[in-house]
Amino acid sequence: MKKKIIVTGGSGFIGTNLVNYLNKLNYEILNIDKISYCSVKEKFKNITYKHNYKFIKLNLKNDKKLFRVISKFNPKYIINLASESHVDRSIDNPDKFIKENIDLTIGLLEVLKKVKIKKKINTIKLIHISTDEVFGSISKKFANEDATFNPSSAYSASKAAAENIINSYYKTFKINFSTLRLCNNYGPYQFTEKFIPTIIMNIYKNKKIPLYGKGEHVREWMHVDDTCAIIEKNLHKFKNGESYNIGSNIYYKNIDLIFLILKFFYIKHNQIKKILFTLDRPGHDLRYAMNSKKFKKLSKWKNFISMKKGLEETIKWYKNNSEWIKSTRQKYDGKRLGIIK
Ligand code: DAU
Repeated sequence: MKKKIIVTGGSGFIGTNLVNYLNKLNYEILNIDKISYCSVKEKFKNITYKHNYKFIKLNLKNDKKLFRVISKFNPKYIINLASESHVDRSIDNPDKFIKENIDLTIGLLEVLKKVKIKKKINTIKLIHISTDEVFGSISKKFANEDATFNPSSAYSASKAAAENIINSYYKTFKINFSTLRLCNNYGPYQFTEKFIPTIIMNIYKNKKIPLYGKGEHVREWMHVDDTCAIIEKNLHKFKNGESYNIGSNIYYKNIDLIFLILKFFYIKHNQIKKILFTLDRPGHDLRYAMNSKKFKKLSKWKNFISMKKGLEETIKWYKNNSEWIKSTRQKYDGKRLGIIK
């Protein structure tokens, strides 16, 4: 029998890639997404096996319908990617952002609780996707799974809160879960407000690339194909009630990442002239750095897609998917977000 998986937030960037990935492996997939400004429309997805994939437009806060849908589908796993995710937007609207991310989490947990109590379904495992940002800026060394949460933005605070809430439902109501904290992802379908798409789009448009502050900030980068493979291949290995840091060990300063991408366009000289140094992000974390040994030991994962290969493919993807890019432009025109006025 095919394994049944629900992906909540399966129309976002990672969600879309994950749904496409799982679909090729012949899982039975249900994508539940409320559809927001950055969602990938169904027509742009790459679904090979239509009979194994269903999409329901539904907000996780709609408890009655969600209860019916989850009890009927009765999945083995729910991979929860439903979240507002852009730090700059959380600076513009912290209150809305925090409420939304917490409400989505509680909505899902309450339904899982009811499914367990009323339907006596005890077998669903929640794989909750979180972020390295919960640890805040790590000046030295690396954050282990049990490092203290120290979020800097409303976004990361909401993700830290969501993790704590899930943990409380695990302890009190015995909801099965594992949390995966991802580092910065990149690849196809990433909404054009994020850094790597911003760099690529501005080079294509022959415009300067906006860089916050001096560009000294360090991020750990993983291609989204690696993320999807890591999630799928280890679904049964992630232990109940535990968290895993999922990092690649591929670190770049923002300014160096711009230099690297410029080289793919054969721009090697006067690179600095291509950069527009702009106001820094308020509360900007200088460095994210997780210790990911726990997941690497569990999964024996060694080989990550190199930045060279990953960026090459991503740049090509953005070149070949102008229709999708056009559709994002109707929702976001490229203007600077997250400045305190
Ligand atoms: O670390 C995982 C996180 O990565 C995820 O949890 C978040 O959902 C995701 O948005 C991402 O957060 P970041 O803030 O690191 O990503 P962003 O693409 O917004 O920015 C990456 C870095 O680039 C950050 O240091 C800010 C900088 N930046 C960003 C943009 C959009 C610029 O210098 N210029 C820009 O135009």
